[in-house]
Amino acid sequence: MKNLKIGICGWGNVATGLYKTIKNNYDQITSNGNLNIDIAVIGARRDNPKCDPTNVKIERNIFDVINHDIDVVVELIGGVDTARELILTAIKNKKHVVTANKAVIFNHGNEIFKEAHNNGVRVLYESSVCAGTPAIKILSEELAANKIRKITGMLNGTSNFILSNMEEGANFASTLALAQKEGYAEPDPTFDIEGMDAAHKIGILSSLAFRTSLPPNDFYIEGISSIENIDFKYASEMGYTIKHLAIAKKNKESVELRAHPVLIEKIQYLANLKSVRNGIEIETDLLGILHVAGSGAGQESTASGIISDLVNLANSEKNTSNIDDHKIIPLADFLKLTFQYYIYIEADDIPGVMASITSTFADKKIGIETIVQKEELKEGIVPIVIITDPFLESENAELIKKIDELDSVKKVRSIRIEPF
Ligand SMILES: NC(=O)c1ccc[n+]([C@@H]2O[C@H](COP(=O)([O-])OP(=O)(O)OC[C@H]3O[C@@H](n4cnc5c(N)ncnc54)[C@H](OP(=O)(O)O)[C@@H]3O)[C@@H](O)[C@H]2O)c1
Repeated sequence: MKNLKIGICGWGNVATGLYKTIKNNYDQITSNGNLNIDIAVIGARRDNPKCDPTNVKIERNIFDVINHDIDVVVELIGGVDTARELILTAIKNKKHVVTANKAVIFNHGNEIFKEAHNNGVRVLYESSVCAGTPAIKILSEELAANKIRKITGMLNGTSNFILSNMEEGANFASTLALAQKEGYAEPDPTFDIEGMDAAHKIGILSSLAFRTSLPPNDFYIEGISSIENIDFKYASEMGYTIKHLAIAKKNKESVELRAHPVLIEKIQYLANLKSVRNGIEIETDLLGILHVAGSGAGQESTASGIISDLVNLANSEKNTSNIDDHKIIPLADFLKLTFQYYIYIEADDIPGVMASITSTFADKKIGIETIVQKEELKEGIVPIVIITDPFLESENAELIKKIDELDSVKKVRSIRIEPF
C-alpha cells in the first residue's frame, strides 16, 4: 500500500471536513485507493471549535507547513494572493499540491502549472469545480481520446437553488434569504448570484478541454438577479425553464466562453436538476452526449474530490503537471455570437402598442418567431412576450434600448435561449 504524508493548510469548513473524512472512511480509502493518508501537519492560524485534530502537529503560520517532511501540501485557505504564494512556495520546495481553490487556479493556473512542471511536481484540483462530483479528471483523463465540442455547466448551487425555488413560485429575495439560512449562500452572495463562481469553473473546464488560457481573457458573465417570477410563468407556457449556465464551445478557430441565464427546453437534462445540484453536459465526437451531476459543495463532497486527487497522486506514474506547449486558443467575440431571445415587455394597454414594438424589430431587420400579448397585469398595463428569430448579440442592447424608448413601454428585458 502507498503512503502519502500530507500537510493541510487552512482549518475551516473544507479542511476539517477532509480531516474527518480521512478518519471516518479510512477503510474505504485504504482498500479502494490502496493508500494510507498520513496527516502530518495542519496549518491553522487559530483553533476551530468544530474539530479537534488531537495529536496532529499544528503550525500557526501556514507557510511553515511546507518545511515539514511531507509529500503533498493541501491548500484549503481560499482566496487568491496568499494561496498563490503558498502554492508556488510549496512547488519550489518540491511538494505536490492539491487544492480546492477555483479562484487561484482560474487566475494563476498557467503560472502554477508551469512552475509545477519545472519543479517535477503535480498540482491537482478536482474539487475546484463541482466539489467531489467528477469533472476535472473526466476531461483531463477519461475523455483523453475525445474531441470535445461543447461543455454546458450548471455550476453554481446557490443560483440553481434560487432559480428552482422561483420556478415553484417563490420570489428572488425570499429564496436568497432561505439559501443563506440553509447555508447554501454566503452572507455576501454577490460572487454566486452575479455569475462569477460559475465563470471561474467554466474557465477551468475550458482550459482542460480547449486549451484556453488561465486566466482567460475577459468573457461575458451575467448573473441571475434580473430574473423575475413572471419569466418562469411565460417561459413554462412555451416549454422552457430558466437556468444559469456556463458554456464553453469550440468554434472553428476560437472558443465561445460565457456564463449567463438562459431559457432551456424543459425536456433537457440540465433543466431537470433542481435545488443545489450541479450538472455538466459534455458533447464529444466519440461519446456523443455525456452527463455528470451531483453535489457541488459541502464538506464531505469536497473531501471526496480532494481524496480522489490524493489517490491519483499516490497511484499514478505521472510525476509532473502537464503544461501546454500548444498554441493558446483565442476566445470568440461574444458580440459576434447569434442567439434567439425571449423578450419580456410591460406596456400601456393602448391601441397601436404592438405595432410600435413590431416596427422597432422591422427597423432593425430582426425577425419575430412569436409575439403574444398576455392578460392585463395591473390596471392598464399588459405584458408582451416575444421569441425572436436568431440575431447577432451586438444588436441586442440597441434593440432593447429602442423598445425601452417607446412611450408606451414601461419595462423590458431579454434572456438568451440556449439551443441543445
Ligand atoms: N465550502 C465548500 O463547499 C467548498 C466547495 C468546493 C471548494 N471549496 C474551496 O475550498 C477552499 C476552502 O473553503 P472553506 O469553505 O473551507 O473556507 P473557510 O471555511 O473560510 O476556511 C478557510 C480557512 O483558511 C484559513 N485562512 C484563510 N486565509 C488565510 C491566510 N491568509 N493565512 C492563514 N489561514 C488562512 C481560515 O482561517 P481563519 O478561520 O482564521 O480565517 C480558515 O481556517 C476555498 O478555496 C473554497 O473555494 C469550498
